[in-house]
Amino acid sequence: MDHQLFEQMYQGQAPWDTGRPQPAIVKLAQAGQIRGSVLDVGCGTGENLLYLAAGGHEAWGLDFVPVAIQRARTKAAERGIAAHFVVGNALELNKLGRQFDTVIDCGLFHTFADEQRPVFVRGLTEVLRPGGLLHVLCFSDEEPGSEGPRRISRQEIRDAFQDGWKVQQIEPIHFESIPRPDGPKFSPGGPKAWLATIERT
Ligand SMILES: C[S@@+](CC[C@H](N)C(=O)[O-])C[C@H]1O[C@@H](n2cnc3c(N)ncnc32)[C@H](O)[C@@H]1O
Repeated sequence: MDHQLFEQMYQGQAPWDTGRPQPAIVKLAQAGQIRGSVLDVGCGTGENLLYLAAGGHEAWGLDFVPVAIQRARTKAAERGIAAHFVVGNALELNKLGRQFDTVIDCGLFHTFADEQRPVFVRGLTEVLRPGGLLHVLCFSDEEPGSEGPRRISRQEIRDAFQDGWKVQQIEPIHFESIPRPDGPKFSPGGPKAWLATIERT
């Protein structure tokens, strides 16, 4: 999806913008799988990152829709949580000029076209410290139909993260989302997704 479509989605109720962190992110944090400083790429209005920041992580979120970043900053101020929210392009991560111990991607990877994936992965290589963990939550090819985001197979994840990465685990989960009455009908419990944990070697 391009920038304009995301801008439009944020004019109304974006289905992923549930007002709370994704259960998969909460589970990862509770399992000690989120370490040190965290970058959330495509952070939207920041619920996942604010949850992690409240847990004591140094937290940076990046999104290319200014209104989403503005909402994230407002929430951080209202909740008294320290977090950095930056307007920027996830395909130019090197511009951040720093590295993190953990990167989370909740719903971004599956938005990229084939030719954008290597660009994204190269940028991740620059911002994640060797030994750091990347957690990718993306739409799964086990979700029936084709409405909504592009479906991703486990093999596509493995192919994207071949050089300089070790895919530790790819687990089936569900995205929590707000169903739209006129929108796509997804699986009970939310769209089927993959949670991939990938180490930067
Ligand atoms: C499905 S939403 C998920 C938002 C957030 N991670 C969440 O879970 O609520 C994907 C997000 O990625 C952002 N995005 C898409 N392409 C991007 C890009 N090239 N650079 C930065 N952000 C991007 C969109 O603006 C949107 O906020």
